[in-house]
Amino acid sequence: MKAAVLASGRGSNLQSLIDEWQGGSLPVELVGVGSDNINAQALVRAAKAGIPARAFLRENYSDKESHELDILNWLEELGVELLILAGYMRVLSPSFIRQAEYPVVNIHPSLLPAFPGLHAQKQALEYGVKVAGCTVHFVDEGMDTGPIILQQTVPVFDEDNVDTLSERILKVEHEIYPEAIRLIVFGKVKREGRKVTIYRHS
Ligand code: GRF
Repeated sequence: MKAAVLASGRGSNLQSLIDEWQGGSLPVELVGVGSDNINAQALVRAAKAGIPARAFLRENYSDKESHELDILNWLEELGVELLILAGYMRVLSPSFIRQAEYPVVNIHPSLLPAFPGLHAQKQALEYGVKVAGCTVHFVDEGMDTGPIILQQTVPVFDEDNVDTLSERILKVEHEIYPEAIRLIVFGKVKREGRKVTIYRHS
């Protein structure tokens, strides 16, 4: 299955996918990495791994529609069958999601539907939750609202700050994102409306 990744920044989730792919445990072909940020570390990581990387800078387009159209065309040229968002900081428009003829997945650093949007770990700490975590979900037309594929919890300790909690969550992000993608590629994920069923043993 041909997969592409969109990422805006550090790219540690991209790196975990690259590592598993190169280690033979992620049965996809990573055919492209796109970014809206020319300085994204994700682009460097892609280049190092020999994956075609391309920047789509928002300032080079007159509007969101033409920006997204260029990305959609690039994904089509690549023959993408799965689009993986890994810290992509722009919300894809409903029109993008409708036009994408392949699943689009995302990872979010909270236990959705709690704390969608930016600074999820800070939101969780400020709310005072005792358990936090991350979510892999299909992307729909809303913001972090799509059907949930996998979630993993981590404890929140009294002495936590945003950095310590983010680090603990990120560690499990790097485990569940490749796992979710494996399950999708192996046809173990069935989506019916909001409900996603995982068939691990069939
Ligand atoms: C991660 O916390 C991810 O859950 C969120 O953005 C962050 C990206 O981190 N969507 P990285 O660029 O993968 O290191």
